[in-house]
Amino acid sequence: MAASGGGNVAGIAKGILERLGLDKHPMDMAVNKLSGGEQAKLALARQLVGLNGIDVIFLDEPTNHLDIQTTEWLEDFMRTFKGAQLIVSHDRYFLDQVCTRIVEVDNLRAWPWKGNYSQFLKQKEASEASLGDMINTIEKKIQSTMGALSQMKRANKYDKSISAKHKMIERMQQELKALRARMPKKRKNLVFSIEATDKGSMDVLMIEDGTMTFEGLERPILKKQSLEVRKGDRIGIVGGNGQGKTTLLKIINGDLKLDSGVFDLAPGCEIGYFHQDHATLDFSLSPVEQIEKLRPDYQYGDIRAALGRFQFSGEQVTTKLSQLSGGERARVALLKLLLEENNLLLMDEPTNHLDMDSKDTLEEALINYTGSLITVSHDRWFLDQVVNRIWEVDGGNVKVYYGNYTDYVRAKKGLPPLAEDEISEI
Ligand SMILES: Nc1ncnc2c1ncn2[C@@H]1O[C@H](COP(=O)(O)OP(=O)(O)O)[C@@H](O)[C@H]1O
Ligand SMILES: [Mg+2]
Repeated sequence: MAASGGGNVAGIAKGILERLGLDKHPMDMAVNKLSGGEQAKLALARQLVGLNGIDVIFLDEPTNHLDIQTTEWLEDFMRTFKGAQLIVSHDRYFLDQVCTRIVEVDNLRAWPWKGNYSQFLKQKEASEASLGDMINTIEKKIQSTMGALSQMKRANKYDKSISAKHKMIERMQQELKALRARMPKKRKNLVFSIEATDKGSMDVLMIEDGTMTFEGLERPILKKQSLEVRKGDRIGIVGGNGQGKTTLLKIINGDLKLDSGVFDLAPGCEIGYFHQDHATLDFSLSPVEQIEKLRPDYQYGDIRAALGRFQFSGEQVTTKLSQLSGGERARVALLKLLLEENNLLLMDEPTNHLDMDSKDTLEEALINYTGSLITVSHDRWFLDQVVNRIWEVDGGNVKVYYGNYTDYVRAKKGLPPLAEDEISEI
């Protein structure tokens, strides 16, 4: 690493390795002995060390494998770097924090936009609306010119003006074609309505002085914690690896019992659980069969459309789940959950392995969900969209913050919540 860049490289390198949590390993350890996540961090560290003498840096999916704390540190780091940065990333929150311009690659062309990711989304929406207006206007013009043309023909006016009108129509049709090509394909409307079954009472669940330990694990997972969930609450659980996020969901689902304290779940509470390992799926069925079994009232077309919203097409829909990839299974599991009757959703890292369109679909569905939601996630953008409460799990304590992820970060820094019009601005 000392070879890249000038200045006090060894010192900078040490600081960066420390910050990435790689300083615990002997400095001469072979790279292939590191875990996949650690190797990703090391690759990142090597890039960052030489930054002093660099004008441009390329980063390809830099936040993959990083935990939230490291990602936040990287965001600060990149914000202070003075050179140009070209970043490929699916991490929407990261793009919001770091980028000042977005290049969208679509239809074999690159479209430049000003601003960060949120600003890009807003501009894109506005531009699609005005594109729609332009398409309407030109369609009307073509119609009326064609009308005029057939009138002229009827009146037998074969003269120059007819061929001029023909040319005009041709030109407008070419323009229309170009405009339509720029219009993104319309997504099909959500065919699943995920209305919660309305049997639950206002109080959904309560934990009082809950304590939980595992045999062989010295630290407790929960230390005398009290928590409550009310109808319609949308809770995001955050915390480092191994802090007990999944365990908390298992307690709520009744899979694990507290060592001491009270756990009370309201009668009428119907839980839908998205497991990290998709344990609720029948692996001998295909996606279509899985949905058919759940919703016998659905027409085949509805099933295909619902699967389509989670990017399933072609052969995949009839392939057994046992032969599908982890990401594909995750999408079926999510769809299954959204089609089930329930009023409390427990989700464990639901956006892992999802592409952007599937994430959009999931977020849209959850925003419209009328039941209560408890979701573990490291996806800060997802949390910002769907939760109104954060439970931070750390060292056996669960601290409750009101608001979404951005509010939580601000509260931790002692800042007031953002005003409505400041949201998503850097
Ligand atoms: N059945 C178990 N027996 C012993 N230790 C466990 C058991 N289940 C989880 N743990 C440990 O408890 C801690 C919390 O696990 P988990 O809730 O899965 O963490 P996370 O916050 O990453 O979801 C981890 O250190 C894990 O190894
Ligand atoms: Mg977990």
